[in-house]
Formats: sequence, structure tokens, C-alpha cells
Amino acid sequence: MESGLRDFIQGLPKAELHLHLEGTLEPELMFTLAERNGVHLPYSDVEAARAAYDFKDLQSFLDLYYSACAALVTEQDFYDLTWDYVTKAAMANIKHVEPFFDPQTHTNRGIPFGIAIAGILRALEDADEMFGVSFRLIMCFLRDESLDSARHTLQTAHLYRSKIAGVGLDSAEVDFPPALFESIFQEAKEQGYRLVAHAGEEGPPSYIEDALDVLGVERIDHGVRCLEDPALVERLVRDRVPLTVCPLSNVRLRVVDKAQDHPLKRLMDAGLVVTVNSDDPAYFGGYLNENYLAMAEALDLTREDLTKLAKDSFAASFLPEDRKQALIAEVEAYGMKNAGS
Ligand code: HPA
Ligand code: ZN
Repeated sequence: MESGLRDFIQGLPKAELHLHLEGTLEPELMFTLAERNGVHLPYSDVEAARAAYDFKDLQSFLDLYYSACAALVTEQDFYDLTWDYVTKAAMANIKHVEPFFDPQTHTNRGIPFGIAIAGILRALEDADEMFGVSFRLIMCFLRDESLDSARHTLQTAHLYRSKIAGVGLDSAEVDFPPALFESIFQEAKEQGYRLVAHAGEEGPPSYIEDALDVLGVERIDHGVRCLEDPALVERLVRDRVPLTVCPLSNVRLRVVDKAQDHPLKRLMDAGLVVTVNSDDPAYFGGYLNENYLAMAEALDLTREDLTKLAKDSFAASFLPEDRKQALIAEVEAYGMKNAGS
């Protein structure tokens, strides 16, 4: 490895746009919270939990991810979860985050929406104040839950409308096409939410098309399978639709066999607006900088490539234009100053 690449990535200012807060629950915190709340976990200890993180596909991961959420009960739990993530983000030189949370994962267990979001927001606001890490919070609907459940979630969210920037769609993808949620996304759009959706992770390219045409999303989460449809790629390039790509997630959930097979560079070379993200870093073996580094090493990315990815992470964000341009200029200056080998 080129010496200094790790340092270059560490110093690169970046945004993270595809991060599930529930997916940042490290086993250590999971056990601390479970003990605090008298919740039983299906593992004897932290090592046993980590050893279970061997996934064969998205569903095998989701089963574990949802079961671990049982440890999250109080507002303070959601604060601690979010605080651990944002402090790591600040240390990794992440300047802006657009994290997801899954309200239904908690309301289905009897934890009120207001408890989860209060802890999350308090931590995000503290991090903005202490570290200058700005944020836009996105709530995701679980696509393997009913339309009624999503509608109820959107209604409850109305109380917090000014605190939630956008809505997304996640969980088991195959057999749950975006079009099922047309009416919910229509309603969310009318209420002024920004719209995103997971599509083309395990699902076919047509799910990406439907997310754009039927749901009207502005960004595609994952989207790597677009490469199977050249006409779709052409459209995504023309319309500058950003993809929030999650390399280590794709390796761990076997969307690709190994890092060297990851299509990140092919997506960039096709002219797409591509961003790198960590998805569920507590489960997939690395936070944002580790995702950049894994791709730099596996795909021989240059410093110019890495700078482009960081610039596009801000370009694809929901930041207001002035802060967006200021951060892009910061990345450019950093890239020029550290052009190196
Ligand atoms: N895909 C779909 N749903 C999810 C994921 C993902 O990678 N992570 C958490 N929920
Ligand atoms: Zn995701």
C-alpha cells in the first residue's frame, strides 16, 4: 500500500449519506444497554456476538440487526448509540451526516417514536454544537412491513416534521418493490420531505427505475445493480442522480464476492455521481474511512479519485448551497495540497 494513503483519507473532509444508526450498535454498547435494561440477548458475550456476524445475504443480516435493537429502550440509549457514532464521525473528519433511523423497528416493540427520535436528535445537535458536524435526519420505512404501518409512521412523524429532513425505504428488498409505497412517498413529498430509497442492492435495476419514476426519489441508496442496464446508467448520468454506495456492506452481504470485484470504479468511470458510505459499520467491519481505504487498496484508486468521491459526497447531500459549496472548496483545497504520488 502507498504509505500515507490512510492519512490522506483520514484528513479528507467528507460527508456520510448512507448510515443506519441502528447499524452502529457495537456489541460492547449492546451488552451495556441490555444489562441496563434487563434485556436478554441471544449471545453469551461480546465475542459470541461478533462471531455471529457472518452473513450470507441481506436477510441473514437483517435478522441479527433487528434482534440486537431489543437492547435500545430509553431515550438515553438512543442518545448513547447516536453519540458514539457522531464522535467517531467527527474524529474521522466527517463534516456532515445524513443518518437513517427505522422508527418501526422500535414502535413495533412498544418503544414510542418520540423516545427514539428525542435521543437521536439530542446527540446530533450536541455533535453539531461541539464538533461542527452538521446533520439532516432521514427516517426509513421498512418495506417488508405493511402500507398501513408506514402510513401510521408518517402520521406520527408529523409532530417532528421540522426535525426530519427526509424519508427513505429500507429492509428486505427483493419481492418488496418500491411501487408498493407510491402513496406514502406522494404524501411525504406533499409534506416537504426529501425522498430517497434503497434500490438495486439485491433487487433488479427495474427497482431503481421505479424508485425514480413511481416514488420520485432524488437519490438511490446502493444502486450498484444499475450497471446491468446501460440505458438506466445513461439516465442516471444525465440526470445526475447520486448513488450512495456501501462497499464493505456489499462484500459482507455478498452482493459482490470480494472487494476487488466491487463496481465502485466502474460506476465512477461511467460518469455517475457516486458516494462512499458505511451502511451498518458495527456489522460490516469498518466505518467510513475503512470503506474508502478498502476501495483505494482493492481498486487502486488515486488521490484524485478519492477527492472526487469526497466532493460528490457533499454535492449529493441535502445541505444548503452555501455550505455545500464551502465544503466542496475545502475538499478541493485539501486534494491540491496533498496531491502526492
Ligand atoms: N439494506 C436494506 N436495509 C437495511 C440495510 C441495507 O443494507 N441496512 C439496514 N437496513
Ligand atoms: Zn442501507
